[in-house]
Amino acid sequence: MNEKLPLMVIGHRGCVGRAAENTLAAVKLAIEQGCRWVEVDVHLLGERLVVIHDERVDRTTDGVGCIGDLGLDRLRELDAGGGEKVPFIEEVLDVCEGKVGVNIELKGKGVAEAVVNMLEGRRWEDEVIVSSFDWEMLKRVREMHDSVPIAVLFSKAREWEGAIQQALSLGARWVNPSLRALDKGWVRYAQGEGLMVAVYTVRGTGDLRKVIDSEADACFVDDPKMVMEALWNGYD
Ligand code: G3P
Ligand code: MG
Repeated sequence: MNEKLPLMVIGHRGCVGRAAENTLAAVKLAIEQGCRWVEVDVHLLGERLVVIHDERVDRTTDGVGCIGDLGLDRLRELDAGGGEKVPFIEEVLDVCEGKVGVNIELKGKGVAEAVVNMLEGRRWEDEVIVSSFDWEMLKRVREMHDSVPIAVLFSKAREWEGAIQQALSLGARWVNPSLRALDKGWVRYAQGEGLMVAVYTVRGTGDLRKVIDSEADACFVDDPKMVMEALWNGYD
């Protein structure tokens, strides 16, 4: 059903508007609600890649402190919402395999190498995108792997030209702006250069209208159900 939509819908942090962010429950719900991709945030803790947005656990779990200070065993004991654990990235990939693609957003130090190593031996073609606001980290990914799909994230309108140049020099597939950096002129330019554009984050129908008007290719959404209904039934 998603194939016929005017843009691709990516569940943001799983689908943070409907379930606890970056949990397996949120990822499963995003799949059920028709997303073609889900996005999750990943930190390296010891030798494991854990799916959590912040360096601290306070906002998204019942714990307190930095993930590095807590350690893996304690982190996995925490409740990330609704009884869900902080997942490992491999658990997310297993849930999504054969169903939807996974956008792995790199957060924190050392994570680029760990993600590339983790992807070795897994099927990733058309099923994984690696993204980051840290373009040095994306360079590291490309040095280690010549073909894994990359997305260059940026947040400020004045960064668009640099982001496109960076994407082209990395052989990236995507350049992904915040809504406030969105402008139809550079979206068209990026697409003319062979890049795709995915906008974060759609939280309501007004945001959706801006993304549609820009003719971007995809958007990150907190509430896939709301967006799917708006796309099918109208959003004026
Ligand atoms: O990848 C899009 C979006 O996830 C970037 O912002 O802070 O939600 O990780 P953030
Ligand atoms: Mg993210």
